[in-house]
Amino acid sequence: MFQTETQRGDQGSGVSYLLLPRRNHDRGFAIAVAFNQLVEDHFHDPTTKIGKEVICLERVLNETLDGRFSGKRVNLIDLGAGNGQKAVLVLEALLRDDAQAVDYFPIDRNRYLSKYAIFKVISSRRVQPTRRDIAALLCRPNEPELVEQVATENVSLDELVAMSCDTSDHLAPIELGGVTAPNQGLDVDFVRDAAATYRAVRELGWYREGITIHCLLGRTIGNYAAQARRRFLSDLQQEMSPGDLLLLDAGLRPEPDSDSEAVPRWIRQMEKDYLVGEHFMRFEADTEGSAFQVDYDRTSKKVRYGFKRPDGSIQKMGSSYLFHASELLDTLRESGLRILCSQTSAEHPPAMSTTSPGSGCMTIVAEKPHEGSP
Ligand SMILES: C[S@@+](CC[C@H](N)C(=O)[O-])C[C@H]1O[C@@H](n2cnc3c(N)ncnc32)[C@H](O)[C@@H]1O
Repeated sequence: MFQTETQRGDQGSGVSYLLLPRRNHDRGFAIAVAFNQLVEDHFHDPTTKIGKEVICLERVLNETLDGRFSGKRVNLIDLGAGNGQKAVLVLEALLRDDAQAVDYFPIDRNRYLSKYAIFKVISSRRVQPTRRDIAALLCRPNEPELVEQVATENVSLDELVAMSCDTSDHLAPIELGGVTAPNQGLDVDFVRDAAATYRAVRELGWYREGITIHCLLGRTIGNYAAQARRRFLSDLQQEMSPGDLLLLDAGLRPEPDSDSEAVPRWIRQMEKDYLVGEHFMRFEADTEGSAFQVDYDRTSKKVRYGFKRPDGSIQKMGSSYLFHASELLDTLRESGLRILCSQTSAEHPPAMSTTSPGSGCMTIVAEKPHEGSP
């Protein structure tokens, strides 16, 4: 079946280069390969930013899934799917909770990343896909030799993504072991237009009535300005049906916002944790030899990323807002959602730890309540 471990160092060279359709050999693909590699490398390391997100996610899944999904059909909408590795955890937990079936909908503006997500989700089912499934996944129905090669050989995940990212609008469902995924992700800006995002999902034709879980993981919410965050959450709440869930994580800032001696140390460690962003942001640096920088600004409460060019000027690469835990919970409540459970990473107790500082994370499950419920 599909080999899901990425082979190091083969992007842009050797067989993967040969298999790459020229128009696809672009920056988006390079970013996707690097992002996938980073997530694979850090996923099981609890000292990393990604590893902390995974721990919090596992904890909230254990707490929330107590038979709630037994016998139910679940739509799993992955907003900013990335490489889909966290979606696999959610999916496995849902099936352990006896969900009857799961329909997976990856949404990402990087279509290569959506493709990683689809391959990861499909290959997690450990069911042999048919040649028809493979042809659909590769978006290459008219190339039986290629389909045959993929079906019979170990082709690396990077190669599969490269050869399957067609720009055609042809969308087909793949159904394996109780999970349905589309052959391509949806390329919609879910923050700018929540209504269009959900219209696109529903128009797929295999979106079914059932409980919908909206995932927004990887601290993505912090990438948006306060107004955009609030509008997004309120638009999302409008799209949700009563009983639907939002599974969200976010970065936490040093608490209390005090002058305690530990704060500067905590901040330095956090900045170090966020440095891994260079791995995929490097592809967007406009000057060779520029140095990646991360700093936490205590006034705006944002981690800021940039490249310092050799002439000393800065190429700004964006920022991530870090929340106060109660602020995030309040924001969700103000959007009309009810908090079912929340978890923070171990080194971020309310009284700030001085022994193991770092990038604190909080993961929350919130529900759209039924009318009349408290
Ligand atoms: C921080 S990564 C998180 C990936 C994944 N959820 C995880 O936790 O590993 C954010 C992802 O969301 C995508 N993304 C961010 N904002 C988006 C938007 N407004 N519309 C579509 N995709 C977006 C990015 O391309 C990226 O893959």
